[in-house]
Amino acid sequence: MRLDKFVCKSTALIKSEAIALINAGKVLVNGEAFLSESAQVHENNEILLDGKRLIARPFRYLLMNKKVNTICSNVDELYPSLFNDVSIDKVSELHIAGRLDADTTGLVLITDDGRWSYNIITPSCKCPKVYRVDLSRPIADDTAEKFKQGLQLQGEQELTLPASLSVISPQRVLLTITEGKFHQVKRMFAAVGNKVTALHREQIGSVVLDVAPGQWRYLSAVEIQSFYPPAKKQSILGNSS
Ligand code: URA
Repeated sequence: MRLDKFVCKSTALIKSEAIALINAGKVLVNGEAFLSESAQVHENNEILLDGKRLIARPFRYLLMNKKVNTICSNVDELYPSLFNDVSIDKVSELHIAGRLDADTTGLVLITDDGRWSYNIITPSCKCPKVYRVDLSRPIADDTAEKFKQGLQLQGEQELTLPASLSVISPQRVLLTITEGKFHQVKRMFAAVGNKVTALHREQIGSVVLDVAPGQWRYLSAVEIQSFYPPAKKQSILGNSS
């Protein structure tokens, strides 16, 4: 596998941190430093980080239904961390692929595989996220077209990527976006003179939320693979049903 993937797999580091350490010459493969992050390595190679041998371990992939007034952080802050409800070993090594605000509920994907979560988060992968949105005013006739064309959000240089809207009722819609700017959904509706009163994420890629608030489950191998582009299907060693 690629060297950056091996480093992520054997530590709690995310991809960018692994690449920084490789580029800084802190990772030795059979005694050699300053290899490319894309160099192919094998578990039988002696791979050292700061002199300590790295051992690859299985990655973990979960989905959870985030409760309202919990936060997507590894520690409690103003609100409790959603990880308080995840009763597995080494929870501190897990991170969330696409955080939600404290008052947003619904689907979060949780993993310790930094390369996998990159595929979900990075806008260039165009991974669709579906939100159910409750609004303070009836949806205007031109909102769907404005979202399709892309909007200028306050403080942003680029327009939002094309988003699709499906109206359930005048004050409830489904919105699909492929990026995750800070408070993006709330800011998109603010930009068209409306206000989000409740926000719930129902789907990421082909993974649909199917557990009750506060509950979680492991992803299946098919669900895990679905976030890799076809040419890059991985060998899955992590927990899955
Ligand atoms: N957009 C928001 O505004 N908030 C979220 O939690 C997710 C997307």
